[in-house]
Amino acid sequence: MDFSRVIAARRSLRAFSERPVEPEKIERMIEAARWSPSCANRQPWRFVIVEKGDPARAALEEALGRGNAWAKRAPVLIAAGARKADGAVVESREYFLHDTGLATMSLLLRGVDQGLLVHPMAGWGEGPLKAALSLPDDFSPISVIAVGYAGKPEDADEETRRKDEAPRVRKGTGEIAFRGRFGEPLDASLPSAPAKVFETDIPLRFGDIDAMGHVNNAVAMTLFELGRAKFCAEVLGIRTVEEYDWILAEATVRYRLPILLQDQVRLRMHITDVARSSFRFRAELFDPRDGRVFTEAETVQVMYDYEQGRVKHVPPGFLETVRDYIGG
Ligand SMILES: Cc1cc2nc3c(=O)[nH]c(=O)nc-3n(C[C@H](O)[C@H](O)[C@H](O)COP(=O)(O)O)c2cc1C
Repeated sequence: MDFSRVIAARRSLRAFSERPVEPEKIERMIEAARWSPSCANRQPWRFVIVEKGDPARAALEEALGRGNAWAKRAPVLIAAGARKADGAVVESREYFLHDTGLATMSLLLRGVDQGLLVHPMAGWGEGPLKAALSLPDDFSPISVIAVGYAGKPEDADEETRRKDEAPRVRKGTGEIAFRGRFGEPLDASLPSAPAKVFETDIPLRFGDIDAMGHVNNAVAMTLFELGRAKFCAEVLGIRTVEEYDWILAEATVRYRLPILLQDQVRLRMHITDVARSSFRFRAELFDPRDGRVFTEAETVQVMYDYEQGRVKHVPPGFLETVRDYIGG
């Protein structure tokens, strides 16, 4: 998945489906954590993975706080922690918690990248958790991460559902980032929310499949065209071909997994940047059921005055219209 999409798609939601998680997805999450940076390369993080049916599972669920009862539905729970003695200390600064946090973020993002719902929690009892997982005395558990697939709102009780539906809040950029000296707010010029993603289902037709039994890149490009046309209609309000005032100057299509006739295909796309005379779309074809990304594409549109036969500037107002859809 495109990195800006991973950042935008990560949510600490609580309605889990009971669909099991493929073991290789967990392995990839651990692999991502393994390659995280750490002070003096001490790699203090440790993870204990507990699946449904594992002997420690019931005791681990017992350790969860009442407000985290929703996490019992998650097929996998991962306890993350570290020993202070395993981390680096610089002057008086102890880095074991910091480094475990970094590794945990890599683990979370790799989970999201694979279509999983990942939710870190601090609401559990330390004594019961340590006993459940036989953690050493000098080991500090830091978070328990619920891992699975997103469920439907009905998969959660009323109170949990309300939490999931609450609007996301963040401090302003100027409150957390300073320029030059502490307290001097950094000016923010980008939209304050993660970029919106435009999504649309792409119904596969028999004719989309080639002699090799899959959708090849040439056809994938036409599927992206369908998505672009829908984006232009729904976001830009373009209704007829005559209203298109750009040319497709460049297109890159990256094949990742075969699309077969039985696959469900959905397209998501956003704009990555708007320059003086051009803008870029980034798009992915993926399976909405498990997040597998089949094909990625990037296209460059150059604004073009067809009557004059020359390149023109991006019209005023364009940036405002697509502002919410611009991701990094
Ligand atoms: C260390 C840590 C502990 C957390 N503990 C809990 C928890 O016990 N229960 C819970 O529902 N959410 C917990 N969260 C999730 C946060 O509430 C959530 O990240 C925050 O509200 C921002 O929402 P978002 O992750 O969807 O962007 C925790 C997150 C972190 C990083």
